[in-house]
Amino acid sequence: MSIPVVTVGQAQEDIVGGLERLHGPVTVVRRCAELAELLAACQSGLARAAVVADGCEELTASLVDRLGAVGVAIIALTDNPDEASRLRGIGVPSAVLGVEAATLAARISEAVAQLVGRQPGHPAAGLADPAAALRPVPAASEDVPAASGTGRIIAVWGPAGSPGRTLVAANMAGELAAEGKSVLLVDADSYGASIAAVLGLLDESAGLAQACRLADQGMLDADALLRIAAAVATRLGTFRVLTGITRADRWTELRAAALSLVLERAREIADVVVVDTGFCLEADEEISFDTMAPRRNAATLRTLELADTVYAVGSADPVGVPRLVRGLAELELAVPNVSPVVVMNKVRAGAVGRAPERQLRDAWDRYGPAAEISAFLPADGPAADSALLGGSLLLEVAPESKLRAAIAELVCASVQQKRRSSVFSSTARRRLKG
Ligand SMILES: Nc1ncnc2c1ncn2[C@@H]1O[C@H](COP(=O)(O)OP(=O)(O)O)[C@@H](O)[C@H]1O
Ligand SMILES: [Mg+2]
Repeated sequence: MSIPVVTVGQAQEDIVGGLERLHGPVTVVRRCAELAELLAACQSGLARAAVVADGCEELTASLVDRLGAVGVAIIALTDNPDEASRLRGIGVPSAVLGVEAATLAARISEAVAQLVGRQPGHPAAGLADPAAALRPVPAASEDVPAASGTGRIIAVWGPAGSPGRTLVAANMAGELAAEGKSVLLVDADSYGASIAAVLGLLDESAGLAQACRLADQGMLDADALLRIAAAVATRLGTFRVLTGITRADRWTELRAAALSLVLERAREIADVVVVDTGFCLEADEEISFDTMAPRRNAATLRTLELADTVYAVGSADPVGVPRLVRGLAELELAVPNVSPVVVMNKVRAGAVGRAPERQLRDAWDRYGPAAEISAFLPADGPAADSALLGGSLLLEVAPESKLRAAIAELVCASVQQKRRSSVFSSTARRRLKG
């Protein structure tokens, strides 16, 4: 079957003529005067591919993403190698302006085939966008830049009600840096960004939004990311931060496609990328007919899809526990492949009774969620408050606190090892004594 194609650009007369003379693999169904017209044509389901012969500088990762969502692959024509490389970065294959019609037709077919054949599970596919499996990838495999990043992504998520996601994420970053890891902390909470405030940064620049903007334009390389990410020095180590959007109404700046590219780059510059996410997992795009509309929860969903480890943080009280149980069920639906590490935070006898950990385990068993509780973080109001007051981390204001130790044990291999060997040696000691 012939592939219906729309085109835009001055060079289109030649292109269209050439493609039509092939009498075969592709049919030009509309010639558009400008990109907006081309987008409208694609949205209406007219085409399976778009050839952008002019104005490819206006193509962004989000645009490519959204066209992919409606099943349209893009091929750009440019003679500029830098522009071709930028386009590759946002997943658009290109050809030179004078490309032969037969070659162009072949490239169109390849791009369409890849778009259709794209499997869920690809790094950029997933429920942040239900149609992501239809998104285009570069036509020729040699065009795809090899993913060089080896950094691990940790997402810190939790249901509504301030269970302590930000406190946990920020302190994890500090503890990992203290352990000698290179760390990037990212504030991707599109409802209540607060990493900058928690770290006492007078930052109005919304580093993550800046990085997303550059990524969207195909211009975020590792150097640019390092320039944008603010360095935070603590007593025991330095880490970098991409601060969140300063006003909640700027959430439209955190689109899934751009965020994926930012996190891919982040893996290249850091051993560990810790992402503080929002709480809400609703796939709002599913109830929207406008496939070009940005989605508020895309940042959280995409982070959860890309993360190597997801920590699900809940408040250890009669409101927080059932909320976390429900939240985990929603998480399972929204991002099925995730096996979250369940963390009970603010654990205190005052809210759940004597022997709180046992009480919480019993309550958890009654609710019966699949995941078990992996860790209990004690409530420590004075330590948490002095950290907030000083705009600093627990390792600075409460280095001896159990809360700090418990967070470090969650993420730091060295602390886990020490703990295991001390548990072992005390057992061995007991054995020796006995
Ligand atoms: N283990 C804890 N003990 C005492 N207070 C805590 C603890 N964890 C978090 N808090 C406090 O709870 C409040 C909400 O925490 P925050 O990390 O901002 O939650 P979230 O990011 O989930 O909205 C903050 O005032 C924080 O200092
Ligand atoms: Mg928060």
